[in-house]
Amino acid sequence: MKILVTGANGFLGQQLTLYLINKGYSVIACSRGACRISGKHLFQYYSIDLTDEVAITAMVLEVKPDSIIHSAANSKPDDCDTNKEGCLLQNVEATRFLLQACKPYNTQFIYISTDFIFGENGPHSEDNTPAPLNFYGESKLRAEQLVINSGLLYAIVRPVFIYGPVLEGMRPSFLHWVKNNLEQHKPIKVVSDQQRTPTFVLDICKGIETIIEKKAEGAYHLAGKNILSPYEMAVAVANFLGLDAALIENVTSDTFIETVQRAKRSGLTIDKARKTLGYEPVSFEEGVQLTFN
Ligand SMILES: NC(=O)c1ccc[n+]([C@@H]2O[C@H](COP(=O)([O-])OP(=O)(O)OC[C@H]3O[C@@H](n4cnc5c(N)ncnc54)[C@H](OP(=O)(O)O)[C@@H]3O)[C@@H](O)[C@H]2O)c1
Repeated sequence: MKILVTGANGFLGQQLTLYLINKGYSVIACSRGACRISGKHLFQYYSIDLTDEVAITAMVLEVKPDSIIHSAANSKPDDCDTNKEGCLLQNVEATRFLLQACKPYNTQFIYISTDFIFGENGPHSEDNTPAPLNFYGESKLRAEQLVINSGLLYAIVRPVFIYGPVLEGMRPSFLHWVKNNLEQHKPIKVVSDQQRTPTFVLDICKGIETIIEKKAEGAYHLAGKNILSPYEMAVAVANFLGLDAALIENVTSDTFIETVQRAKRSGLTIDKARKTLGYEPVSFEEGVQLTFN
């Protein structure tokens, strides 16, 4: 079974590529830049810009994937807001090109979306009405709609605030930012008036594997099971690593000038994934241990 992973150099993409290889799948990875994933001899890699329709069509024709996991995106809300045209090209048009290229091969299409397609009053279930508060969320919602209307067997996976071990070549996650600052005895300000359901990266990988195997269709929230604020997450990191939690200042969102609106009460419920996929994520406490051990 051939699985094509887009955005394979990214935080989720790298973990997903290595996870699926370990599980014995034949993985073809692609991303815009040169390959930054370890174990390059274990998989085929395409360096490709997904805004280039011709290049996508040629790659898909060569690979003929049974499943595709489309993880590539501009996932930075501030960037998306300042460059709306570029964001639409990267997040929406690239998805359209991939869907068109996959059509002749009946590829199972798994789209990685986000809780940002919803507004306030989370945690949200799959049945809630989308109401994005910023252009990043809007672009991801538009891409979801293309996927739903594609005629392909599809699944939309929505994680929240992904964290986990940082492999070589990856950007540090929020948890590592906390660790690095506290290790250097630097005080940090972290907001306590936002709530999320942080997702351990390997839980998403397992959930996606089940979606592939069961050929599950529709939207699935693959998030964590605990509702936490970034401040609570930072304190949990400090406590686990034996660092000084007093260096973490508890602040509210209005401390920072934010150009892009973000939900205060976000997060996703996972009842559907539990029932239909047998999805059971680790607790945040366990996730922190797995991240740093
Ligand atoms: N991180 C989170 O907390 C979070 C939460 C909810 C949902 N998500 C969603 O999950 C997915 C993965 O997120 P992530 O944090 O792993 O993202 P990430 O680290 O920013 O990685 C995204 C990857 O996409 C690739 N990419 C971007 N534009 C491309 C293009 N035009 N052509 C080819 N490749 C392109 C980049 O490749 P290069 O590095 O090679 O340029 C990058 O490595 C995204 O779809 C995001 O919307 C993330």
